[in-house]
Amino acid sequence: MELKIEKTIFSPEPEVVFSRYLEDFDLKMEDLKDKAVLDVGSGMVPKFVEYCLENGITNKIYAIDHWPFGHEIKNLGDLQYEFVSAEGAQNLESKKHFIQAEGGSLPIKRDFKFHLILMRATLDHVSDVAGLLKEATAYLEHGGELRVCPVWAGYEAAKLQEVFNGLDKNYFDIEWRNDVVKRDMKDKPYLVIIRKK
Ligand SMILES: C[S@@+](CC[C@H](N)C(=O)[O-])C[C@H]1O[C@@H](n2cnc3c(N)ncnc32)[C@H](O)[C@@H]1O
Repeated sequence: MELKIEKTIFSPEPEVVFSRYLEDFDLKMEDLKDKAVLDVGSGMVPKFVEYCLENGITNKIYAIDHWPFGHEIKNLGDLQYEFVSAEGAQNLESKKHFIQAEGGSLPIKRDFKFHLILMRATLDHVSDVAGLLKEATAYLEHGGELRVCPVWAGYEAAKLQEVFNGLDKNYFDIEWRNDVVKRDMKDKPYLVIIRKK
């Protein structure tokens, strides 16, 4: 019998992924408009970033994942987006939005700052959670936010607090919200926001 290999990675439509991101991070589309945004642990099919690009929400948005991206990004109008390796990502150029790199050691120039850095369901199975979080805080502009969700009480929450404790309180504050997930659950996860003042 011939074995059929499934080549397609199942993933919901970009608009569904986009609305889930907005909901989980408690963001509105206007919060993203023309902002510099980094999606760390974007997934191998980074449809949130794709949706933002395709719909002109922001062109300064980048996906980072340490696994190879799993689908061809379609030709979005006259723009051909490229997948780039860490080496190719030093200078963020308009076409290089999908970067295969380790989130704990971002290949982006240190002087490039983001208004929003998002980590959605990224912390599971990460060995150096604190390293990943700390690296992201180094790329926040003033007024910028690192938003992480879902954060479960226990290990992940402790790591977030540990990273926050190591930051200068003159420059950073932290907000813990467990009112974002509306589903009725015994233990509600947090949306955690580290904000650079
Ligand atoms: C569960 S998926 C979440 C995907 C997407 N954020 C979403 O919400 O649908 C977690 C992703 O984080 C990536 N990831 C985990 N640790 C990472 C790290 N240290 N650096 C870069 N990517 C990482 C994994 O490869 C995986 O694609």
